[in-house]
Amino acid sequence: MSNNRVSRRQFLNYTLTGVGGFMAAGILMPMVRFAIDPALQTKAEGDFVQTSQKVADITEEPVKVDFSYEQVDAWYTSEVTDTAWVYKSGDSIVALSPVCKHLGCTVNWNSDTEHPNQFFCACHGGRYEKTGKNVPGTPPLGPLDAYEVSEKDGFLLLGKKIANNLA
Ligand code: FES
Repeated sequence: MSNNRVSRRQFLNYTLTGVGGFMAAGILMPMVRFAIDPALQTKAEGDFVQTSQKVADITEEPVKVDFSYEQVDAWYTSEVTDTAWVYKSGDSIVALSPVCKHLGCTVNWNSDTEHPNQFFCACHGGRYEKTGKNVPGTPPLGPLDAYEVSEKDGFLLLGKKIANNLA
């Protein structure tokens, strides 16, 4: 008689281990997939957002352009509205973030009568030149961020925030 015969006890062990492992994998795989799902999603960062601003209407005078996009935070998706100050500089379009680099208030264009043609933050008197460069001696320590810009069918598209290379 061969010594390779499987005893009834061994057969039961192999069978139960196999079936148990198969069932455990069937239960665990969806849980693991659910846990890491956001990491598997393709990111929309770097995508451009359509605005209602016609490129032909942009002048050298900064105008406020509102735009909305979907923001995905783990499993939660929300609609976010943002703003940019947009103007033409030569042949290029400049889009600056309105978020003050001091403590995050919102800057406005040309709203300080004592310092015309600058961005002004009313919270603590922060000022920026038209390029977004912070005026020395005022609270902000860095320039306003810029947005990537593009154009589609005559309308302005705004991309992700980038370092301001004008300031
Ligand atoms: S937050 Fe803008 S100057 Fe302080």
